[in-house]
Formats: sequence, structure tokens, C-alpha cells
Amino acid sequence: MMRGKFITVEGVEGVGKTTNIAFIERYFIQARQDIFLTREPGGTPLAEKIRDLLLDARQTSMTNDTELLLMFAARAQHLNEKILPALEAGQWVICDRFTDATYAYQGGGRGISKTRIAVLEDWVQGDLRPDLTLILDLPVAEGLKRAGQRSAPDRFEQEKQVFFERVRASYLELARQAPERYRIIDASGSIDKVQSRIKEALDELMT
Ligand code: TMP
Repeated sequence: MMRGKFITVEGVEGVGKTTNIAFIERYFIQARQDIFLTREPGGTPLAEKIRDLLLDARQTSMTNDTELLLMFAARAQHLNEKILPALEAGQWVICDRFTDATYAYQGGGRGISKTRIAVLEDWVQGDLRPDLTLILDLPVAEGLKRAGQRSAPDRFEQEKQVFFERVRASYLELARQAPERYRIIDASGSIDKVQSRIKEALDELMT
């Protein structure tokens, strides 16, 4: 059985991740590619409980290290329970956020060093890395304007614009350092335009 491909989707709040992941799902269904769609933090009952803690706006005393370790605790569970078995069964896994979000949010946003994050990445993932990472990219102010139209802000959504500027800069830096693994998708303009940019990246992966 050929191992499936592992595709992750990233971006700052408000870039249209949900809508575009639904598009990616339709793309693969039409291509008759067997997929497994999941998200982080979360993706299993235990990891979803950890997610609830991480996003809970009442957890005001959570330290940066606690946040980082909970992200990887959820990831260890999700990888072993869902992602690895799916890949081994030949499914293509599409994950709404993965370790690049840790580099961007806990690294860029919170200021934890990359080398610390890399230790946990190696520990939890061994040599597993995504085959393709789509970074939906939009000026932060625009994304926040879109995201602001939703319900009560979670623990991350409460952060100020400068935090998200650092998150965005980290994503762009990750892509710059390993351009073969990332596609930066310009998430501005009409849905049709954005989705034709995504389609191009997926067509490339399918050939
Ligand atoms: P979501 O709203 O896109 O589902 O993501 C939940 C939040 O978790 C989002 O604000 C980004 C944050 N996050 C991190 O800070 N680090 C991580 O490693 C992951 C996966 C998510």
C-alpha cells in the first residue's frame, strides 16, 4: 500500500480557512482521491478536550510553555490515533493547521525559540513532515476585520494585531526557508480567484 500524502492548511484568523478547506475537500472527492479531513489542535476526543483548554478565554494564567506542551500533547495523540493510521492505509490526510501553526503562534506570536519547538517536533513526529502546506495569506487587518464578524473571541482571538503580524511574518519566513514544501496562496480578492490559486497548487501535487 502506498503511503498517502499529508497536506496541511495554515493562515492567520480570518483568511477563509474553513471555506477553502471545503473547496479542497470537493477537489479531492471529484478527483476520486480517498481523503481524511481533520484539524489541530484536536481531531480525537482527547485532543479535542485539550483544544477546549487551549482556546478557553477563561484560562488567563496559562504559561507559554504550558500552551506549547499542550499543543504537542494534542498532536501526539492525534498523530498516533488518526493521522499515521490514515496515511498508512493510503488515505491523503488534509489537516486544518499543524506544526507550522506552532512555529507561527507559539514561536512568532509568543516568542518561544524555534530550537525548542524543533525538539518537540522531532520527538512527537519523528521524521514526519507535511508533503504540502498551503498558507492562506492576507494582510492581518483585513483578516481580523473578517474574523471579527464572528462570535465571542477565544484565547488566541483576543490577541492584538501586533501578535498576528508576528504570526503572519513567521508563516512567510517558514515558506521562504523551504519553498518546495509550501505554497503561499494570496487569499485576497473573490472566492473564485482564491480557489483557482488553490486549484493550481493541488493540480501540481496530483501530477
Ligand atoms: P482554528 O481557530 O483555526 O481552529 O485554530 C485554533 C487556534 O489555535 C488558532 O488561533 C491558532 C491556534 N494554534 C496554535 O496557536 N498553535 C498550534 O500549533 C495550532 C495547531 C493552533
